[in-house]
Amino acid sequence: MFLSDEIKDIIYKSLLDLRESRKTLHFGIPPIKVDTKLNNFYGDYSTNILFSLSKNSKLSLSDWGRLVSPFINLRVKKSKFLDHYIVKNGFINFFLSQNYLLKVLFQVIKEKNKFGSNKTGKGKTIIVEYSSPNIAKSFGIGHLRSTIIGQAIYNLYKFSGWRCISDNHLGDWGTQFGKLIYQIEEILKNKSPQEKGVFLENLSVEQLEKLYIDFHKMELKNKTLTDRAREYFHLLEQGDKEAQTIWKYCRKVSLKEFQRIYNILGVKFDYELGESFYSKMAELVVNEIKEKGLAHMSQGALVVEYPNNILPSLILVKSDGSTTYFARDLATIKYRIDKWHPQIIVYEVGAEQSLYFKQLFELVHLLGWAKQTLFIHIGHGLYRTQEGKFSSRQGKEIHLEKVLEEAIQKAKQIMEKSKNRKIQDNDQNKIAKVIGIGAVKYNDLSQNYAKDIIFDWSKMLNLKGNSGPYIQYTYVRAKSIIQKSQFTGRTLKKAEDFTKIEFNDAELNLMKTISKFPNIVQESASVFSPNLICNFIFYLSQQYNNFYDKYSVLQTQDITRKQFRLILSWGVSQVLKTGLCLLGIDVPEKM
Ligand code: ARG
Repeated sequence: MFLSDEIKDIIYKSLLDLRESRKTLHFGIPPIKVDTKLNNFYGDYSTNILFSLSKNSKLSLSDWGRLVSPFINLRVKKSKFLDHYIVKNGFINFFLSQNYLLKVLFQVIKEKNKFGSNKTGKGKTIIVEYSSPNIAKSFGIGHLRSTIIGQAIYNLYKFSGWRCISDNHLGDWGTQFGKLIYQIEEILKNKSPQEKGVFLENLSVEQLEKLYIDFHKMELKNKTLTDRAREYFHLLEQGDKEAQTIWKYCRKVSLKEFQRIYNILGVKFDYELGESFYSKMAELVVNEIKEKGLAHMSQGALVVEYPNNILPSLILVKSDGSTTYFARDLATIKYRIDKWHPQIIVYEVGAEQSLYFKQLFELVHLLGWAKQTLFIHIGHGLYRTQEGKFSSRQGKEIHLEKVLEEAIQKAKQIMEKSKNRKIQDNDQNKIAKVIGIGAVKYNDLSQNYAKDIIFDWSKMLNLKGNSGPYIQYTYVRAKSIIQKSQFTGRTLKKAEDFTKIEFNDAELNLMKTISKFPNIVQESASVFSPNLICNFIFYLSQQYNNFYDKYSVLQTQDITRKQFRLILSWGVSQVLKTGLCLLGIDVPEKM
């Protein structure tokens, strides 16, 4: 059970006790909220329950405090983890006991990278869909957020005991492929079979992008091209061999580029089914929707209209007979429900598709396939620069690979400046990658996903601020102390051997912060917000650096306290590492 739940339980039972003992006092028990804030000045955990109680009755805050106090007192005394509580300014503040804090610290050392995990997801399945770039276009910075946030959410749920299924819903189908196939056919038509092969083998994403843009320019002058492209897409849908071959090449060259980026980012998927996988199923789904009377013909197209126009209508099948993105998404949902029986399906897709997802989920609800609560759309904001929208001078989207390379380059420059002679050239490249990519990921994850974020190199790589490198640096610092001390843990004592120490505030604070980690993991997963993990590891890093600046670990005279401080440093480094790992960020062993 999470500490916050244990405390809720104490409050709840104390209120039951009170109600039992004062039969004349009639009251309902309001929802109990426990504040898990990290820098709570008043107590380790607080609740505002007295406010809710007094709001619903004639009794004042202090009346309620007085009434419930004796019952809370009894339970706090009996509790294994609380030391005392204080009622102040209407809040009940709970304080953790030192023995409990020590026990947790030793638990970290014992459980290592499992500390903070939980089993709340046991027997449940979540599908997390993320990244989902479009074939034949380069991987722009637009899909970076989805990739990073989606992977972090996946990690968080895995850590919480869920069966997790990640799926990269590639945009590899749709009428745009008719345009590309037309363009490529135009080039291929005068070539020998051998030349054709060479041409297709050597296609590049850049070239595909150019062909696509050129098509649009020509289309402006020659309207018949639109029909030609449609015909080609139709051929593709019907399984025409030549069209299929060209499409496969386009897909292959794109996937190769995407895979390079996923390797740099360390991102993985369980499935990469893509829209094409659902193109046939989409036709079946369309029939079901027609049969259920949820769609009708309008100007040659099959359209879904919502009852009472609660949402704008949406095209299911175009007038040329081809299925849409929408139809394929419906088929995807059906497939996922049938195959995996998930409790949650998460879509990590930009906020510009919010309305679309509302329409999608509403139709699923109308079809009776699933409740709306099955779906979560994590609609992230855009990347911006200080000047505005993130785009190159030509107004095109920035290529992600270049951005990632720049991040690694910049990390290297910083390392060169700090001139750590112990780092060999070989290691330097590896470490620069860990720092550079960590900086990009942390910058993204540390902000509320719904907001637009600024792409600012100096903030991202700031070794003193709320940045990936700062956390990594703190980790390395704590780790290096342990290494210097040659403390291996083999001589590790028991938590009980340290109970006599009178801890200072810095030490206590660190232990308290660590003890909140499991709670933070749970909260962060439940609201799909990896930034809560970032806030936590940033706070823990700051606390540790404050402690380290004030007190020496290695020079500590008292042997027992020295050993405690080493264990504390160990615990901090472990929790920082786990936190970063949940975010998909590596740690360097040197920096
Ligand atoms: N490929 C789409 C795009 O880049 C994103 C796909 C989102 N996922 C979905 N199931 N519709 O805009």
